Amino acid sequence: MTGTRFTSAEMERHLGRISRDFPDLYQRLDVERARLWAGDYEALMPLGDDFGDAGSGGRGESYVRAQARNMRARARGIEQLLGYIRAGSGAPSKTVVDVLGGDGLVQRVASALCLADVEVLTCDASPYMVRAAWEANFPALLQRADRLLQRDCSVEGVLVAYGSHHIAPQDRPELARESHRVLRPGGIMVLHDFQTGSPMDTWFADVVDPYSVTGHKFDHFTREEIGGYLTDAGFPQVDVVDMADPYVAVAPTAEQAELELGRYLADMYGLVKIQESQGAEADRWVVERAKSVFRYPGEAFSVHYSAREQSWTAVLPRRALVAFGTKSG
Ligand SMILES: C[S@@+](CC[C@H](N)C(=O)[O-])C[C@H]1O[C@@H](n2cnc3c(N)ncnc32)[C@H](O)[C@@H]1O
Repeated sequence: MTGTRFTSAEMERHLGRISRDFPDLYQRLDVERARLWAGDYEALMPLGDDFGDAGSGGRGESYVRAQARNMRARARGIEQLLGYIRAGSGAPSKTVVDVLGGDGLVQRVASALCLADVEVLTCDASPYMVRAAWEANFPALLQRADRLLQRDCSVEGVLVAYGSHHIAPQDRPELARESHRVLRPGGIMVLHDFQTGSPMDTWFADVVDPYSVTGHKFDHFTREEIGGYLTDAGFPQVDVVDMADPYVAVAPTAEQAELELGRYLADMYGLVKIQESQGAEADRWVVERAKSVFRYPGEAFSVHYSAREQSWTAVLPRRALVAFGTKSG
C-alpha cells in the first residue's frame, strides 16, 4: 500500500487474482480494455491523487482509518443505494460495479448487512485505494469512472457514489454512457452526489477546503444535471430523489457518540489543520461545526439511547441527491 507507481504488471496480478478467486466477476471484464488502460496509465505523468497516501499529498490513510473505525457510519445510505439496484428485474443475484469504490467500503457494508444477492467489484482511480481493497481481500480494479473495463451488457448494477463531484464535469457524460454500455438490459445505474448549495456543499467549501491538506474545490450537481446525464446516455426513465444519507456513530455514552462523529469526520475529510490547532479538542470542534452546517427543515442532530443495545447513537442528518435509471431491452 505504498505510493509506488501502478504498472501493467500490477494490473496483470489483479486480473489474475480476480480470474482465480472471483471467476464470475472475471467473466464480466474486458481484459483487453484493462490491459490497454493499464498501459496508458503507465505512460501518463503521475496525476494528483487526493486519496493517495500522505507521502503523495493525499488523505487516503486517514480516510481508510475513518471507515475502519466506524464501518457503519454511512451504512444507511449505502443500503438504500444498493436497494435501488437490488430491486431491479432480471438475475436474482446482482453484480455491481462500485465505480468510486475506495478501499471497498460498499462491499464491507453489504457483507455486514448480509446482502447475499449482491456481488461487488470495487473500482477506483487511486492505486492506494485499490491496493487497500486487495489488502482486505476484496476484488478490486484500477479503473477510471469514464473508462469502464467491463464488457458490454455484462453487469446488473453500476453504482457511482460518495465522490461523484470528484469526476470532472467534462467526464460526466462519458461516465453515464459507459455505465449504460456495461449494463445488461434491465440493469440499473445509480448516480449519487449532493445538491449544489446544499449543507454538504457548504461543508466542503467552509470546512474541508480550508482545513484539509488536499483542499476541496469540486462542482456538485443540480437536479437537472444529475438526471440529465442518465437521460442523455439513453436511460429511458430516470428518477431523481432526495435520499436520507446520515452520518451515524455509536458509543457507550452520549458524549462519546458525539465525539466519535467528530473523529469520523475529521479523519474522513483529512481535517489535519483543525487537529493541529485544536489538539485534544479537535473532535469536539468538528462535531459542533458539523451540527451547525448539516441543518434541514424538520431534521436535527440527535443522540438517543437504545436499551436493547445498551449504547448511544449520534445521528447527523444529511440528504443526498440520487438519480437512477434502468437500461431498456
Ligand atoms: C470519497 S471516496 C469514496 C470511497 C468509498 N466508496 C466510500 O464511500 O468510502 C471517493 C473515491 O473516488 C475515487 N475517484 C475520484 N475520482 C475518480 C474517477 N474519475 N474515477 C475513478 N475513481 C475516482 C477516489 O480515488 C476515492 O477513492
